[in-house]
Amino acid sequence: MTHSRIAGTGSYLPSRLVTNADLEKMVETSDEWIRTRTGIERRHLAAPEETSSVLAEHAARRALRSAGLTVEDVDFIVVGTTTPDLVFPNTGTLLQQRLGIHNCPAFALETACSGFIYALSVADKFVRAGEVKCALVVGTECLSRIVDWNDRGTCVLFGDGAGAVVLTPSTEPGIIATHLHSDGKYQDLLKFPFGPSSGFDQLRAGVPAGITMQGNEVFKVAVRTLSRLVDETLAKNGINKDQIDWLVPHQANLRIIQSAADKLDMPMEKVIVTVQDHGNTSAASIPLALDTAVRDGRIRRGQLLLMETFGGGFTWGSALVRY
Ligand code: UT7
Repeated sequence: MTHSRIAGTGSYLPSRLVTNADLEKMVETSDEWIRTRTGIERRHLAAPEETSSVLAEHAARRALRSAGLTVEDVDFIVVGTTTPDLVFPNTGTLLQQRLGIHNCPAFALETACSGFIYALSVADKFVRAGEVKCALVVGTECLSRIVDWNDRGTCVLFGDGAGAVVLTPSTEPGIIATHLHSDGKYQDLLKFPFGPSSGFDQLRAGVPAGITMQGNEVFKVAVRTLSRLVDETLAKNGINKDQIDWLVPHQANLRIIQSAADKLDMPMEKVIVTVQDHGNTSAASIPLALDTAVRDGRIRRGQLLLMETFGGGFTWGSALVRY
């Protein structure tokens, strides 16, 4: 039976750095509050000409290089993003054009912070079905474009960036399992309340636009849900906590990450944490964290990784991966 495996990883953070001290000059906040409540120290913001597909191109090229493959090899592109360049063409197709690839399927899916895990799950199925030999799986975001920079409750949290992996067929699993969930009943706790078919009129009327979030409520549901997700992932795959080498969580808040680690009785030394360097980059955060730890030598071939995410919708999901 064919499986898929991660053949290479890549990531990209735009060069403009905004520290907590910079934010102190913009809204009533403090470095101390942001660090203690979130673990975030800095975030990167895209330049005006950098869209999500531009960030994605950098990450994708790096992932292909690390896999020893080229754009000619790619026969499938799936991009998770909450901040597409345009309503259409979709960001997968725009990335495809940037890479100079033609004809292969290329599309984007929109499941907020779970975008990468959803994209990984979709690509894995195409590779396992024998239809795809080289899938580019990307999470990319320009969240700075949909943040209300006057809202201290949200603007300190988010950042821009992209991460990518290349999936190729393998005789051994690779992607052992993915578990995806969503529940729309929580949609009002975290959203961007405008869109092409519901709200551009309000935008034109000057209603301030930005991500809205009831942070504390989101926090509580996230901790509860991720705890259940970890249990489900271990149980369905017959895995014990101590078999996991690395937890690679969505990077939204250090306290949420710590609670997932506690659930696994896992010391923080076995958890990949990059939230301090880029804030919450939504769909980009897991592949960014993964690429960081692969490149600095912590994550090595043959190790067992648990990736888990939670985001707007709500959507949530995990991936159990033999790297
Ligand atoms: O990635 C998708 C999922 N999203 C998340 O996982 C985010 C989940 N939520 C969180 O990470 C946390 O809830 C936050 C970091 C957003 C907020 O932390 P919190 O400990 O839940 O704080 P809070 O919302 O309960 O607010 C506590 C206080 C409030 O003041 P009062 O009412 O106690 O006087 C806020 O007004 O902190 C105040 N506050 C701030 N103070 C300084 C809110 N934002 C700020 C700020 N600087 N930036």
